[in-house]
Amino acid sequence: MKFGIVCVSDRCYKKECEDKSGPAIIECVKMLSDSNEYRLVPDEKLVISNALISLADNENCDVVFTTGGTGFAPRDITPEATKAVIEKEVPGISEAIRAKSLEITDRAMLSRAVSGIRGKTLIINLPGSPKAVKESIEVVLPVLEHAVETLSGNTQNCGGNYGK
Ligand code: MTE
Repeated sequence: MKFGIVCVSDRCYKKECEDKSGPAIIECVKMLSDSNEYRLVPDEKLVISNALISLADNENCDVVFTTGGTGFAPRDITPEATKAVIEKEVPGISEAIRAKSLEITDRAMLSRAVSGIRGKTLIINLPGSPKAVKESIEVVLPVLEHAVETLSGNTQNCGGNYGK
């Protein structure tokens, strides 16, 4: 699988701090990953959307994870930038992440993260901290292979009445 990782952070972009969440994502998916594409962008809607479009349409990533910018801070805009480029929402993924995260912290309800599909690419927003990234990604890892397989048009393992 090819993964895209987008760190959304004004401070990391300005080199005022180091991105630890992007590397945490790469570490979490290494068992499933053939290759990764990494982008570091500021909290600017258009810049985030363009990074997502490039990773989906040009780099043909199977899954793109964003980290950061999902909360209530004035510049947090990652969910809106994601909604602007996805063709179908996948609410179940973000609901599952929030539900599991709520068992760990009440603050999970402060994440406005969304997930969705653009072409053959699944885009998933994750919160910003490395801890939150690990806790969230654990929830989706078990379904990623099947999700990507289905997106690519292979519905053999879906168990439905496909082909009828
Ligand atoms: N989810 C998990 N699993 N663990 C966490 O520590 N932190 C929350 C939430 N989701 C957290 C979490 C907090 S404190 C915030 S403010 C929101 O994610 C949004 O984070 P972001 O603005 O960095 O994206």
